[in-house]
Amino acid sequence: MDYENLIKKLPKAELHLHIEGSFEPELMFEIAQRNKVDIRFKNIEEVREAYNFHNLQSFLDIYYEGAKVLIKEEDFYDLTYAYLQKCHEDNVVHTEIFFDPQTHTQRGVSFETCFLGIKRALDDAQREMGISSEIIMCFLRHLSEKEAFQTLKESLPFKDNIIGVGLDSSEVGHPPSKFQNVFQKARELGFVTVAHAGEEGPPEYIWEALDLLEIKRIDHGVRSIEDEELLQRIIKEKMALTVCPLSNIKLRVFNKMEEHNLKTLLEKGVKVTINSDDPAYFGGYMNQNFLETAKALKLTSEQIVQLSINSFEASFISDALKEKWINQCKALI
Ligand code: HPA
Ligand code: ZN
Repeated sequence: MDYENLIKKLPKAELHLHIEGSFEPELMFEIAQRNKVDIRFKNIEEVREAYNFHNLQSFLDIYYEGAKVLIKEEDFYDLTYAYLQKCHEDNVVHTEIFFDPQTHTQRGVSFETCFLGIKRALDDAQREMGISSEIIMCFLRHLSEKEAFQTLKESLPFKDNIIGVGLDSSEVGHPPSKFQNVFQKARELGFVTVAHAGEEGPPEYIWEALDLLEIKRIDHGVRSIEDEELLQRIIKEKMALTVCPLSNIKLRVFNKMEEHNLKTLLEKGVKVTINSDDPAYFGGYMNQNFLETAKALKLTSEQIVQLSINSFEASFISDALKEKWINQCKALI
C-alpha cells in the first residue's frame, strides 16, 4: 500500500493539539468581522505571510494575537467544530485537545464561555461523526504559578469534563519546577498531568516534568535524545512523546524534515506519536504530518502503523476502546 492510502485508512488518535492553533485565517476574519474586532492584518494573504516563524516565541506572538477575536461561546464552538471536521477527513477517531484558559480570561472572556463552546462542539462531533475526545487545560508558563492556581480554581465547576492539566507557551526560562505546587494540587483533585518539555528547552526540563510534575506524557520531548540516561528511563517507563513534526520544522527545532529525529527515537524503542500541534499555523493537520514525515524519513509501513498504535496506547481512553482501535491498526499491516 502506498503511504497516502495507508495513512488515510489508519485510525488515529491526536494527543497534542492546541485548539487555538487550529484557527484558520478565513474563520479568524469571519469571527473578527462578526465581533467587530480589529486585527492587525488587512487580509488573509497578510496573515499567511506573517506565518514565517524563526522560533517558538515568534509563533506565540501571532498565535495570541489571533486568539483575541474569540469572544463569545459560539466563537469557541465554531473554532472547535472546524477542527473536528478536519479530524473526520483525516480519520482521527479520538482527540485530546488542549485549550489555554488564560489566553482568554486575561482578556475578560470567562472560563465558562470558552469551556462551554468547546465542549458543545466536542459533544456534537461525538454524536454526528463518532469522534471521541477529552479536554486538557494548559497553564501558560510565562505567567506566574499564582495565576495558574487561579485558573485551577476557575476550572472546578467543569472538573468532571476536563481530564488533565498541561503546561505550554514560552519554554526557555520557565522550567516545570516553577509549577510544582499547582501541579501537585491538580493531581490531588484528580487531574492527570502532561507538560511541554524538551521542545526548545533542555533535557533537564524533561527530568523536572517527570519527577516534579509526575506527567503521564511528554509533549514534544525531542531533545531527550541529548541525554542517554533520560532516554533509557523514557524507554523503560514506556513514557510517550507527543511529537509534532511540521511544528518542529516551522519553529526551526530541526532545519528540515530529513533531519528530524522521530525515526531514530522510534527505532530506539521510544513510544513516539505524531500530532499536529497548531495545524493552521504549521502547514497541516494529522495526515499531512504523517505523510511528510513518512516520506522524508522513509518510514516503513510497520513504523507508520506503530505510530498510530502508540497514539491509542498513550491516550486516556478505556482499555476496551484501546483494544478495538489497535486491532483495526494491526489489520492494516
Ligand atoms: N509550544 C509551546 N506552547 C505552545 C505551542 C507549542 O508548540 N503551541 C501552542 N502553545
Ligand atoms: Zn504544543
